Parts: sequence; structure tokens; C-alpha cells
Amino acid sequence: MNAKDDKDRKHSEANAADAAPTGMRQGLTSYGDTGFSLFLRKAFIKGAGFSDTALDRPVIGITSTGSAYNPCHGNAPQLIDAVKRGVMLGGGLPMEFPTISLHESFAAPTSMVLRNLMAMDTEEMIGAQPMDAVVLVGGCDKTVPAQLMAAASAGKPAIQLVTGSMLTGSHAGERVGACTDCRRWWARFRAGEADAATIAAVNEQLVPSVGTCSVMGTASTMACIAEALGVAMPGSASPPAVTAERMRVAEATGAQAVQLARSRLVPASILTERAFENAMRVLLAIGGSTNAVVHLAAIAGRCGFELDLDALDRMGRETPVLLDLKPSGAHYMEDFHAAGGMATLLRELKPLLHLDALTVTGRTLGENIEAAGPGFAQDVVRPLSRPIYPQGGIAVLRGNLAPGGALLKVSAASPALMEHEGRAVVFEDAADLAARIDDPALDVRADDVLVLKRIGPKGAPGMPEAGALPIPQMLARAGVKDIVRISDGRMSGTAFGTVVLHVTPEAAVGGPLAFVQSGDRIRLSVSRRELTLLVPDEVRAARAAASPVAEPTAERGYRRLFLESVLQADRGVDFDFLVPPGEKRRLPRR
Ligand code: FES
Repeated sequence: MNAKDDKDRKHSEANAADAAPTGMRQGLTSYGDTGFSLFLRKAFIKGAGFSDTALDRPVIGITSTGSAYNPCHGNAPQLIDAVKRGVMLGGGLPMEFPTISLHESFAAPTSMVLRNLMAMDTEEMIGAQPMDAVVLVGGCDKTVPAQLMAAASAGKPAIQLVTGSMLTGSHAGERVGACTDCRRWWARFRAGEADAATIAAVNEQLVPSVGTCSVMGTASTMACIAEALGVAMPGSASPPAVTAERMRVAEATGAQAVQLARSRLVPASILTERAFENAMRVLLAIGGSTNAVVHLAAIAGRCGFELDLDALDRMGRETPVLLDLKPSGAHYMEDFHAAGGMATLLRELKPLLHLDALTVTGRTLGENIEAAGPGFAQDVVRPLSRPIYPQGGIAVLRGNLAPGGALLKVSAASPALMEHEGRAVVFEDAADLAARIDDPALDVRADDVLVLKRIGPKGAPGMPEAGALPIPQMLARAGVKDIVRISDGRMSGTAFGTVVLHVTPEAAVGGPLAFVQSGDRIRLSVSRRELTLLVPDEVRAARAAASPVAEPTAERGYRRLFLESVLQADRGVDFDFLVPPGEKRRLPRR
């Protein structure tokens, strides 16, 4: 091919790219005749009452995740109305479509089993249906991670809209909110400090409106992370679900989606190394949920990155917790919003952020912070010089019990238990725990270490939030508030205590946790970032040889796909076939 031919070819390829079908003309159904495919599609959409003028506009898909089973998305219909208004104001055509909806308390055995299914559903429907950009309406814990995993893989312009946090309630003059106070009050009930009538009255007040949990649980953490990643509108993380401001954020998100469709700014241009580093800084500074580490690993994995847990730990040592929010602090999400929300936090964190990271606004993170205006006096976000905790909220532990790493939410743990050695009290699985934890004959003391096996990615399966084992009733009634707990599972971001999580590799695939026995001694050293089983190597090897682990299997369906394909916690619990092939770049770069 001579130089002129090559130039002509490049020119015609550029024209073809420019002329790539958009709107309703893209992604035609295969009938072997593209003209007929478009003719048929137009006939059907006209049957729904659309005009040619409407069909000429950029098409903006809107995921509808409202469900009677999902109170955290209870405002989805109003939000979608507002998004549609924004799309129309921006000159686009809104097209709402359903995807799976997941709520923490209505998905058995755990919503985490279904996160990847929601990611697959969302990715495939974005790809299969004609749209120039998509608005992802999510909120409850697993939904935003699933949607961002999907958006990263689908490759179309996308913008996240969270449903927003619920309000707080009041019991006998005491402010309460899901779900840190759910757990605190339930612990009081178990300890005999609250009677049945009181716990029923508290139950009425814990969730006083629709929306996501009102503390820094996984939903709030992912809302802040979405803004820090640059995939959601500035100021969109904190407005409560039932406020006018939440609806205005939805309208602005719809209008921005049209701009994204026109500029063709795709997630890959936003979800860069710098964006992920910003998200990690924010996760550490807000005392965010440990679950977000798994979700960030999964989203990063879709973008060709691998989360470096040891580097995250090093970042944690230089990133203080600034946000005074439960469970690490005292306030609730609506207080964070009144204090200026993410703009206030990002302004304080500026020295530690990549301010040149691009966002869905087409501006950089730094420009978005400047556009938010000056700060003001408030007591929810602390300055770097006066943090609520001097180091990041999450520590990464390693040792012979967790060669692939384990996490501890330091900011929600007891300082007195950070350096601790104790006798293991082992539960073989969740059923064993339920059967024996309150048995009066259980041999357990306050300085023991509770160990729960087989609640990892394959074990339960789906790594349920069962890692914050209840304090055995006999100890709770004796006034014990915390005890070291270790498992290969997760815990809710709303939970608290000295709880070692995500032990990798998990017991169900033969990780060292599988061979711990009651009476063994375990040493936790947060200062040295160590988790050590004080049992000689040869004894552990003999136990492994005597009782080899049979990995769980399933006969059919999604459960079989899950068990055959799921990766460990350090890889985000994604499916191996959904991660792009090839070498991964380590995150963060340090
Ligand atoms: Fe949905 Fe907490 S249960 S965010």
C-alpha cells in the first residue's frame, strides 16, 4: 500500500468512525438486512408514540432499579422523572429500562452473590439496547459497584446517580439511624439492657424514610467514592433521598448525560490510575466501609488494574480520617450534607489528591472543588491538622493466617485490642456459629479470639456480612463490648468492633484459616500489620494433609457459574471471565 492509499484508508476510516450510527440507529437487531432492522425498530418505537423529531435526539438510557423489595431505592420513580426532565432540557431523549435491583436485607443468602449478576445484566443491557449514554440510578450497597463495573466494561458514556441517604429517627430523645444504631441497639437487647417493647419501639425509628443507610456504611462510602472517581456529578453524594436537592441533582445528572453523549467521554477516560488513587484517599479519609476495598478492586479490575493492598495500607498511614461520621465518629449523612458534603472533604484533602483527574463534568476534580466555592465553619469534616483519627481507617494485615491479606477497620476497632494474643474459639461455618454462639456451655472468655470459617467468596457463598460475629451472650451480659473476631467474610460498613475480615485465601479453598483449631493461639499486631497463627508449620501441614478441603460445588444455574468463576477478595470477588485478559497495572503507583 503506497502512502496515498494509506492516507485515503485512514481518511475513510475516520469518516466511518465519525459516521458511526448513533441514537436509535446503533446496535441494530440482526435480521440479515440492516435497512429492515431499522425499519422494524422505528415501527415499534412509533407504536409507543414517539415522533421522528424525538428519535433524532441523543438517546439517554436510564437504569430503573426501583423495586418493592428495595426501600433504599424507594425514591427511584421521582428521581427518574427528574433525570428525564434533565435529559429533555439538555436536548436528549430519555429511555428508562429495568435492571436487577438488590437490597441488603432482601437478598438471600447475601446480596454479594448477586452483585456480579447485576453487573452482567447492566453491562449487557447497556450494550444490547440503543443508547448514546446511560444514567446509572443505584444506591443500596451492591448496586453502585455493580453499575460501575458494568459501565467500565460496556464502554459507553455513563454517569452515576445515587438515590441518597435516608433521614435519621428519634427514640426517647435519642437520635438513631440505620444501621450502626440497629447493631448497637440489638447488642443492648442481647445483653439484657433493652427489653422487647423498647427494641420494638427502636425498630420503628431506625429507618424513618426511603434512601440508603444514614451512616458511613457501604452505600454512603460508594456514593462518596463515585464522586471522588469523577463518575458522578459534584455534590451528588450527600443530599438525602427525600430532599428537593436530591431531585435537582437528578435533573443535573440527566442534562450532563446528554453532554457526555455529545462529547463521547467514556468511563475509560475518567477511571484512570489517578482517579482510583483519589478514590482510595477518600475511602481512607471518610473511615469508609471495608467492603469498598473489594468493590474498588472489582471496578479497577474491569479497567485493567490490580489493587495493591500493601500500597493501600501505606497510603492509609499518611491519610487521616477527617469525617466525623458513624460508625467511626458521631454524625450522620444529613449532617455531612449540611456541612457541605464532598466539596468540604475534598477541599481539606486537596494536598493528597490528583486535582487534574478528569470528571464527567468535562472539568477536573480540582476545577470542580473550586467551582463549589469557599468553605465555612462546621464540625463534621475536620481539617488535616485536627483529624478524628491520625491514620486512615483501614489497615491491611498479613501473616501465616492471611498470606493474601486481611483487613481491619481500625477506626471502628477498640484501641485496647490492637495488640492482642488470645486463644482461638473456632466456628466451622455460619450454621455452627448460630448453633453454639449463645450456648451456655461454650468455653469462651473475653480475651479469646473468635474465628469463623467458610464465609468467604466460595464458602457461604458470596462472602456474607457475617464477619462481625455477635459477642457471646454470656460475655455480653457480663458487660463485654468488644472481642477480637477473625473470618474470611465481610462486615457491614455500619458495623464496629475489632473485626479482622477478608482473610485470603479463604477457608473453603484450603486457605490457612481452614486448619485453625479451638485452643490454638493467634496474635494480632496492628502496629506490625501482622496476623499470626502461633502453631508450628509442620503441625499446620499435618492438619491439612489429614483433612483436605473439598471446594464447594453446585449442580446448575447461576450458583454453579458463581462457584466455578469467582475470584478471591483481593481480586474484587469478580468473575474471572469478566476481567479483561492481559497484564494488570498495579494500583496505587507507589
Ligand atoms: Fe440499603 Fe443500607 S440496606 S444502604
